[in-house]
Amino acid sequence: MEEKSARYLVTSALPYANGPLHVGQIVGAYLPADVYVRYLRARGEDVVYVCGTDEHGVPITLTAEREGKSPREVVDYWWAHMKETFERFGISFDNFSRTSTELHAGNTQLFYERLKSGGYISEAESQQMYSPTEGRFLPDRYVEGTCPVCGYKEARGDQCDNCGSWYEAYELIDPHSKITGGPVEVRETTHLYLDLPKFSERLGEYVSGQDHWRTSVKNFILGVIDAGLEKRPITRDINWGVPIPEPGFDEKRFYVWFDACIGYVSSTMEWAERIGEPDRWREYWQEPDTRLIHFIGKDNTVFHAVVWPAQLMGVGEGGEEPYVLPYDIPANEFMNLEVVLYGERHPMQMSTSRNLAVWLHEALDRFPADPLRFYLASALPETGDTVFSWRDFQGRVNNDLIGTLGNYVNRVLSFAERYFGGELPQPQEPSEEASEVFADFKELERRYEEKMLSIRPREALGELLAMGRRANRFFDGQAPWKSRKEDPDQARASLYACSVLLGSIAYHAAPYVPEAVERLRGFFDGPVARISDLEKLPEAYRVSGAKPLFVRVEEAEVEAAEERLASAAKS
Ligand code: 2FM
Ligand code: ZN
Repeated sequence: MEEKSARYLVTSALPYANGPLHVGQIVGAYLPADVYVRYLRARGEDVVYVCGTDEHGVPITLTAEREGKSPREVVDYWWAHMKETFERFGISFDNFSRTSTELHAGNTQLFYERLKSGGYISEAESQQMYSPTEGRFLPDRYVEGTCPVCGYKEARGDQCDNCGSWYEAYELIDPHSKITGGPVEVRETTHLYLDLPKFSERLGEYVSGQDHWRTSVKNFILGVIDAGLEKRPITRDINWGVPIPEPGFDEKRFYVWFDACIGYVSSTMEWAERIGEPDRWREYWQEPDTRLIHFIGKDNTVFHAVVWPAQLMGVGEGGEEPYVLPYDIPANEFMNLEVVLYGERHPMQMSTSRNLAVWLHEALDRFPADPLRFYLASALPETGDTVFSWRDFQGRVNNDLIGTLGNYVNRVLSFAERYFGGELPQPQEPSEEASEVFADFKELERRYEEKMLSIRPREALGELLAMGRRANRFFDGQAPWKSRKEDPDQARASLYACSVLLGSIAYHAAPYVPEAVERLRGFFDGPVARISDLEKLPEAYRVSGAKPLFVRVEEAEVEAAEERLASAAKS
């Protein structure tokens, strides 16, 4: 077992505040973090979980221009929308901030100043696309043209979606503005750069020492460092973002990825302020025995495992207490979508622009949070890409969540109420079978914990289901429907043992289906706890007013949800 850490600071990637959340984002950075955090809290760990929206950069300004709104209108709308959607889904952030606050602008500028005084910032000229008709420089994503490598006509300014090549925007053939279609030309512009090569050695040592990282993440990052780091521009010719405290940079702003991760610090400060202990954030960022854990989708890996640690190393030198470096960066793979077209099932890549995505708020209009959480947790892309399928959703919910877990809970509770008035006193001695099932459960609890603490909540869910199957087998073997007539005391004792198992199942299910376990606590009076943690078994369990925890997913509901995706795929 791992040694105990003094405290945890857990973060989920800050989503761009420019559109609704879809399930691909949820399984990458939010649900696995929330499940993990809920488990840590239940274990009595000191944990703070922060997030917020990423409100700067081209993703925001492009949306604003497309919709004829100001960037401020866009981010205000989506910040509120996302906050509400996360709440509906049961994501239990301790603080949900945003990067357009004054506090955050100040932090970003402070990071910049400290990096500068450490000698990590330089200034250089570069070539950038300029639109004479719009009178401004165009960031990469505003420029489109023909790919210099494959000839694809709608290649983006920095990357070709057809052949995947990376290039500078000025290499495009026939480049033009994506907004107006007008011509663009190359002009010189000045930017500030972060000197990543100065951190190469330290970064290499730091990453090499992270034996608990996922191998895919660690090897990928070591490869990036070994290939040689370059200075990276941290400013942009754009007017929406954190202002740069340098003369001559009034018309520019910090690059969104320079300030995004600092948003984690700002959100922790906001949290500390809100709980009335404004200095508490320092414990989580500056005490070396903190475990800082960033949950992200894999496309954000370089920023979190190379650039951000470099920022943290550099900022800690400028007279400030050193900052902790990320203890782990569980980066998740992608989730595709299953679309049913003319009776056939096709895995497809989600496309937010084509509305070919399962939007979380819409899914929550159709189904409660718990079954969605349960299904998504069973399909977390921890080790490879997975596919979201409404059909699998139905199968997982009806067979596993209801068939295995919910059913067990119902059987035990309704039996206890119907035949024993809901009173289950502790028997003299647990039977041999009860002792056996308790021992099996302790082993399953151990496995669950091992998987959860090594941040594999999808695998931990497998152990929860194993508990459910084992408990059902015990119930069947005890056959209380028979013994209640022949030997009611024995039947009551069996149900007492079943309740001990139920308390453990509920404890381990709570990170996945928190709302159901909360309701269960309303009619199940007894410890919701690991059997391994019970110093002694309780004197009694009491049940009253039990109701089923989950509702089956009906065929018609699946068909309607599938139909929504099919029509998006056809349009
Ligand atoms: O890819 C994204 O959606 C980014 N907004 C993630 C930022 S994570 C962190 F740095 F804030
Ligand atoms: Zn190409």
